[in-house]
Amino acid sequence: MKGTPALAERMGKILTSGTLQVALDADRLRRQGVDVVDLGAGEPDFPTPVHVKAAAIAGIESNFTKYTPAAGIAELKQAVCDRYQQDYGVRYDTSEVIVTAGGKQAIFNAMEVLLNPGDEAVTHTPCWPSIPEQVKLAGAKPVLVHAHAEDGFEVAADAIIGALTPRTKVIILNTPCNPTGALISEEALAAIGEEAARRGIWILVDLCYERLIYDKVPHNVCRILSERARDLAVMAGSASKAYAMTGWRCGWAIGPAPVIAACGVLQSHSTSNVCSITQRAALAALTGPQAPVKEMLEEYRVRRDRLHEWLSQDPRLTCRKPGGAFYLFLNVVGALEATGIRTSAEFARTLLDDARLALTPGEAFEAPGFIRISYATSMDRLREGATRLLEFVRRRERTAVATGA
Ligand SMILES: Cc1ncc(COP(=O)(O)O)c(C=O)c1O
Repeated sequence: MKGTPALAERMGKILTSGTLQVALDADRLRRQGVDVVDLGAGEPDFPTPVHVKAAAIAGIESNFTKYTPAAGIAELKQAVCDRYQQDYGVRYDTSEVIVTAGGKQAIFNAMEVLLNPGDEAVTHTPCWPSIPEQVKLAGAKPVLVHAHAEDGFEVAADAIIGALTPRTKVIILNTPCNPTGALISEEALAAIGEEAARRGIWILVDLCYERLIYDKVPHNVCRILSERARDLAVMAGSASKAYAMTGWRCGWAIGPAPVIAACGVLQSHSTSNVCSITQRAALAALTGPQAPVKEMLEEYRVRRDRLHEWLSQDPRLTCRKPGGAFYLFLNVVGALEATGIRTSAEFARTLLDDARLALTPGEAFEAPGFIRISYATSMDRLREGATRLLEFVRRRERTAVATGA
């Protein structure tokens, strides 16, 4: 008998998500009864707003439980158009919107329909791990442009433009960025949009954290791109982070009708429609009161400030306050030197084993030397997590000094 046939070659080219790995490791310990402080999770700890849950329950009770159009129900697509018109002053038609299983599928679909094998996709790091992996799944090559801690991880337009080649098919941007929380400035976005239009390059923007921006800074990505590169720009949004709906799986893509239609064909042959009940819930989220979004944002702000203050006690742990999302991206190079731990990946592993604190190492985001801390968790757990981190560095430093490591 012949042995088991090999998996498809493409599976050899992609990596498991470093962020999901932390969650798995923390969960394994928790199931053994260990008190783990998990600041690895990239999801809101808040419950989904009551009116959203009520809409889903009403959907079930009225038997709204059948297939829907693969690209989403018309009311929800209209609600997405209305929300973007209200929030950003841009007009899109329902033929320019598809409802997807989270922002992740919106981005995946777009890459599948835009990229050919051999194409290059220029994006920035530190980055959300699925972006380069999805580029590779489409057979293309991710070209990574580094953003730097000294500049608050702001993405520079000239760095992106400098990385473009005749093979570049797509520019992928993420703002606010996971893991850094940095926002791309409107000037940089305009410059990138103009250059993309001049060269005929698609722009894909991951806006999954667009509702989680702390200060009143100009950040109208949709308007800028619809003015400068409307026929080339695809924007991915999500109900997950804004409305505390990660498990429901609802996102959307907005973009040129032919691209959205192609995404619809792809989706119709793969996952088909997003769960009908979820679509009713997302409709309530987008059209109902927006106060819960603001309330959650205010709570994240307080947590961000407190966590930053606590960690600032140790000068070997440094970071700027992020402008959006809900992560601190901490430079731990000084802590590595003090403790004799070689890499941030090893730092995170040892931290979980020794101090029962789960954080995500920068390696997961193409940024060694850093650690991502999610503050989408209660203040008590954050306080406990910060205490464990500070004590861990001090304890390890003492051991390093004592052993001459
Ligand atoms: C930057 C970024 N984009 C997209 C997503 C996808 O989120 P979802 O598929 O839940 O909308 C995430 C989730 O963590 C993210 O961090």
